[in-house]
Amino acid sequence: MNDRKLTVKTVTLAYFSGTGGTKAIVSCFETQFVKSGIHVNVIDISCCNTYHEEKAPDLLIIFSPVYAFRLASIMEHWTKNLPKTQNTPAAVISVSGGGETSPNTACRVHCKRLLVKKGYQLIYEKMFVMPSNFASQAEYQLNLQLLNAIPQKVTQTVTEILSGKIYLTRPRVPDRFFAFIGKAEHFGAKIFGLSIRASKACTQCGLCERKCPAKNIRLQNGVPKFGSNCMWCLKCIYDCPHNALSPGVLKFSVLKDGYNITEMSDKAKTQCDAEYHPSGSMLWQGVIDYLRK
Ligand SMILES: Cc1cc2nc3c(=O)[nH]c(=O)nc-3n(C[C@H](O)[C@H](O)[C@H](O)COP(=O)(O)O)c2cc1C
Repeated sequence: MNDRKLTVKTVTLAYFSGTGGTKAIVSCFETQFVKSGIHVNVIDISCCNTYHEEKAPDLLIIFSPVYAFRLASIMEHWTKNLPKTQNTPAAVISVSGGGETSPNTACRVHCKRLLVKKGYQLIYEKMFVMPSNFASQAEYQLNLQLLNAIPQKVTQTVTEILSGKIYLTRPRVPDRFFAFIGKAEHFGAKIFGLSIRASKACTQCGLCERKCPAKNIRLQNGVPKFGSNCMWCLKCIYDCPHNALSPGVLKFSVLKDGYNITEMSDKAKTQCDAEYHPSGSMLWQGVIDYLRK
């Protein structure tokens, strides 16, 4: 396929972010597009779940975290409800903790299919990597490097997109299979959410209720109660100012030291050792490969 420079006057960046990693990347994209003189419309789909732009943008970019080898269900649902369009260019950016490794490589497949069904013309896809918020993390210095790498990676991506570079992948069948069965995570999410309880440390401030992107938390006599719409984004647990929320099941998924992307980004500015070489754990090879590119 020939790459032809894209004429973009307006771009829509639609995103979901549970714990702020994807949001940090979107905000860097916004800065970069604005610098290029492009009008940017940013949509946080957890606040506004319908898409009502009067005129289609010149380019739509969808951003989502990777949950169990596919994009967040809320983003798949939003994409499914998009109005039909005619050949509007679209790109899909996934944000994972593990990188573009097997089976993560197939995470964008379903969303891409939904976009094509709506009449979008797919032009680009890419995996960004942020410090993992799930179960375990890469080495501390690797996480700091990931955060410092954002501006350079975003600049490269925006330049490629605007220069008309077509970049689309075709994941292997086994990876597609894992992405397909990753849908079972939706069931795990329900069980996880239903099992969350507030400890005595809860001050009944209501922050979790106000901020839950799935609107799955209701205060009953001041105490947070969890329904069955949890999507396992972990926002309520990590953002609780009193560390008062914990799940009754699937406890391994929560990092015991918590997760705060703002704090990590501040540390990355002063504590990152650019000379640091990772110990070579295979588990985080996707992160190492991403940083090397
Ligand atoms: C329930 C759940 C499942 C996840 N599954 C994957 C996965 O399959 N592969 C991966 O690389 N990262 C996985 N992650 C890590 C997130 O994709 C990663 O931390 C991402 O940056 C989170 O984005 P956010 O901060 O915008 O919510 C998972 C996280 C959660 C909460």
